[in-house]
Amino acid sequence: MKAVKGFPNNFLWGGAVAANQCEGAWNVGGKGLILADSEYNEHNENIGFSTEDKSLRFIEEALSKTNVHFPKRSGIDFYHTYKQDLKLMNECGLKAFRTSIDWARIFPNGDDEEPNMEGVKFYDNLINEIVAQNMEPVITLSHYELPLELIKKYGGWNHHKFNEAFIKYAKFVVDRYHDRVKYWIVINQMNMAEMYMFTSLGIATEGGKLSLSDYYQAIHNQFVAGAEIKRHSAKYKDCNIGIMLADFTCYPKTSHPEDVITAMKKNRMNNYFYTDVALRGEYPKYSLRYFEDEDIHFEVSKDELQLLKENTLDFLAFSLYFSICADRTCKIPIDSFVENDLVSETTAWGWNLDYKVMYNSLSQYYDRYQKPLFIVENGIGYNDVVEDGKIHDDYRIEYLSKSIANIRDAIRDGVEVIGYTMWSPIDIVSASSHQMSKRYGLIYVDIDDYGEGTGERIRKDSFYWYQKVIKTNGENLD
Ligand code: BG6
Repeated sequence: MKAVKGFPNNFLWGGAVAANQCEGAWNVGGKGLILADSEYNEHNENIGFSTEDKSLRFIEEALSKTNVHFPKRSGIDFYHTYKQDLKLMNECGLKAFRTSIDWARIFPNGDDEEPNMEGVKFYDNLINEIVAQNMEPVITLSHYELPLELIKKYGGWNHHKFNEAFIKYAKFVVDRYHDRVKYWIVINQMNMAEMYMFTSLGIATEGGKLSLSDYYQAIHNQFVAGAEIKRHSAKYKDCNIGIMLADFTCYPKTSHPEDVITAMKKNRMNNYFYTDVALRGEYPKYSLRYFEDEDIHFEVSKDELQLLKENTLDFLAFSLYFSICADRTCKIPIDSFVENDLVSETTAWGWNLDYKVMYNSLSQYYDRYQKPLFIVENGIGYNDVVEDGKIHDDYRIEYLSKSIANIRDAIRDGVEVIGYTMWSPIDIVSASSHQMSKRYGLIYVDIDDYGEGTGERIRKDSFYWYQKVIKTNGENLD
């Protein structure tokens, strides 16, 4: 008997982006509007306003503004530059490229009778190009790209018609690309929706009106969508459907029994609840008790429960950026946690640099499910500086290298990991702050927070470093 050596030969080293943060071309090719198209930056003020806690009226007002910059409308213009950008990623050696499909490019109103063929053509070409550049496409069906018209019509994902429209769109896309795409992620960071109800679920939360019944109805609908997509795609060979979490595994702040139990309960409801349903096919009993205690009600049919039971998903994808703690004062909602102050190093945006959490989370997930895991986001946001045409991003190399070392450690324990698509191979607009200056890329893009710049692409030091890591299949992390 022998222990596992290191990364498997077919390990998917890659990079990840999202359509709404990179494509731009917001009004090209018949694309419909999404919430991201309304987010704007004004010089020296209002940088990083979030659509959260805003009403549809506010969104309409934002959309009509003329003297501000809307960063996600232009992104990095990937819609037009994808060929040259993918070529650079191929040069880096990437074996996988994760991106999302903007639902509103294909069904501009979300529930149109027929798809918009200009949008479809774009994704035909994009996916073909990813394959031509020797990368495995990993496709997210929904990454904050909800059609605005559909939100207006139904008020969000808690409405069953909204879910039906999503299922129709998803089936169309899976039918069209199943021969080229083996890995599908249904919804980006499903568990973060509680924090981003408007962005993720289309449920406006103006004035803090957060209804947990609406929330869990929407989540239930998403579970049903995932199971239905899985059922539909079962006829295709090698079509893997995954659930995705934002890793919110939290440590107990101290070994006081109340802190330990609070952290355990939060891990259940903030993380495992989602994967227990999607990977095991049943609502766990602890969640039923939580719904009862909190007076949370939503509609679930017998047929849906049967669908969930018979169509569990194939893999668990997750993003990981920092670690958190819970003490006995914390409540179940996902934004109730305490800082992990034992890890004092943070980014300028306050995200702590806990490298060990990767090993811990991989181990916890695998011990619980024994299903393949896929790290589909991990990276460090930094306002990089260009010096003589070069970017010396040692901090990024250190972050990625230590994270990868921890993945290797988990793999040596027997944890099955499909791949690692770091965030992001190229600079794109930040999701939460919509700044370009919160850069994650291996490739620098010369655009600033107000859309100024040449758009030139420059390979950072981390580009060459990742190239070497991939070449040595994770042996050489120096
Ligand atoms: C993840 C999102 O939460 O974090 C991405 O799926 C996002 O869309 C990434 O870009 C990094 O966060 P941010 O807000 O710094 O861009």
